[in-house]
Amino acid sequence: MPKNSPTRRFDLDSLALDAGARDPLHLQLRDQIRRAILEGRLRPGERVPSTRGLAGSLGIGRNTVASAYDQLTSEGYLAAAVGSGTRVSRTLPERLLNAPKAGPAPAPGVGGADGLSRLSARGREIAAFGRLLGLDRGRPAPFRPHIPALDAFPREVWERLTARRQKRLPRDLFARVDSLGYRPLREAVAGYLGASRGVRCTADDIVITAGVQQGIDLIARLLIDPGDKVWLEEPGYLDVRPAFEMAGAEVISVPLDADGLDVSAAERSQPRPRLAYVSPSCQWPTGITMPLARRLELLSWADRSGAWVLEDDYAGEFRYGGRPLPALQGLDRSGRVIYTGTFSKVLFPSLRLGYLVAPPGLAEAFGAARWLADRHSPPLEQAVLADFIDGGHFARHIRQMRTLYAERQGAVVDSAHAELSGAVDIPAAEAGMHLVARAVGASQEAIMAAASGVGVEYHPISRYSAATPPAPGLILGYAAYPPESSRRAMQAWARALGGTRIGHATPAAALPPAPRPGEIIT
Ligand SMILES: Cc1ncc(COP(=O)(O)O)c(C=O)c1O
Repeated sequence: MPKNSPTRRFDLDSLALDAGARDPLHLQLRDQIRRAILEGRLRPGERVPSTRGLAGSLGIGRNTVASAYDQLTSEGYLAAAVGSGTRVSRTLPERLLNAPKAGPAPAPGVGGADGLSRLSARGREIAAFGRLLGLDRGRPAPFRPHIPALDAFPREVWERLTARRQKRLPRDLFARVDSLGYRPLREAVAGYLGASRGVRCTADDIVITAGVQQGIDLIARLLIDPGDKVWLEEPGYLDVRPAFEMAGAEVISVPLDADGLDVSAAERSQPRPRLAYVSPSCQWPTGITMPLARRLELLSWADRSGAWVLEDDYAGEFRYGGRPLPALQGLDRSGRVIYTGTFSKVLFPSLRLGYLVAPPGLAEAFGAARWLADRHSPPLEQAVLADFIDGGHFARHIRQMRTLYAERQGAVVDSAHAELSGAVDIPAAEAGMHLVARAVGASQEAIMAAASGVGVEYHPISRYSAATPPAPGLILGYAAYPPESSRRAMQAWARALGGTRIGHATPAAALPPAPRPGEIIT
């Protein structure tokens, strides 16, 4: 059949799935369809088979195909259009289109012929992971997650402190900076963590990092041996997975129950991991806060089994109801917890500064690992941040953001209730900077297609799920968006979904026009 024929069919022969391979079928399918798109064998706008059709042809479950399609949709390769099936995106991310064109398709598992075959096997996995980053290109629009209220950040204070420091940076900071971090910043962080998060530490235990992601990378290098098992929440913060796999670990998904990581279920089915990763303050992405009893159960298990617990205190600063819970690290009596946190979510995302609290006696080893990785964090930013904390600006900013975020969350929950009830359920969250939306009266595909059509951003939970089928739901960030822009986004989304509004009299014509993609900004 000629290449450009409109009746050209999706080339099923190019798909070769292997049930015995290490990667599950949905990942194999995702990778092969992605490769077909990159190599031009599937072209922009071309329709892909229905999930039912492809599942039938390949003799696999429909959920497996749906899961692969979901991920390709969230990466921007496929677009689901209401009523007309799923097609290859017409606007593939520019970076992908610029990828070198390929020759014949390689054998599965040999690596892409899209220029990636020169990478190591691990390198190809990393490159494939990089494509997920396409979710967050350009200026953020409601409801892209992970972004704090940039409009409420005290920039004048930060600029003033930076200008002052620039003039008076101590001479020794020009020569060399400790890999463990600038000492006054380590002291400021220890003071803050002790007073506000119930962490037991001194400045000697603090390691300044380039953020949680780097902290996890250093932890994997120092504490994991090839063949070790690592527990990871499912769904969970999957970005940590490559760091552990690069250290040779086998990452095991552990289910959650209403209290977070289900310790006894995991212990029964997957005993003796070397490390368990948890985000107890506000589980990413479900938002579950781990109650005290589960925290104690986890610590007692770690003590018995000699495993490490990696506590990612993601968004631990933002709690809107109930009593604050002490960090796991503060409850731990046997030195099994490594605590890590970040300034990128509390202050601004490009500030690549975070911290970890090393277990007793291990701080120097972390300093050595940091030296070998990239020496140290920039001294000027470290010094400015120390001044920001010491001057009381940090504590004030967190207090103010707690109030602001509660308001912003309320605006999203209320407008979702007013505009999308009947299609989407968005319950309030007690902590964090995001909400989880679940499809109720419409399919998640239709809800995602409607959002993408009007420039409303989200992260599908499938991006953070290794299960088959992946966990459902959409992650909606709210911290960055003033109530009015959230409301406008909800209205546009509801209008694009059409006909799903239940019990609301406002005719569609009375709604404001849908913003153009990229127009809804903070
Ligand atoms: C649970 C969780 N931990 C850590 C991070 C990353 O932190 P950092 O920006 O400090 O690397 C994120 C997202 O960015 C996250 O969702």
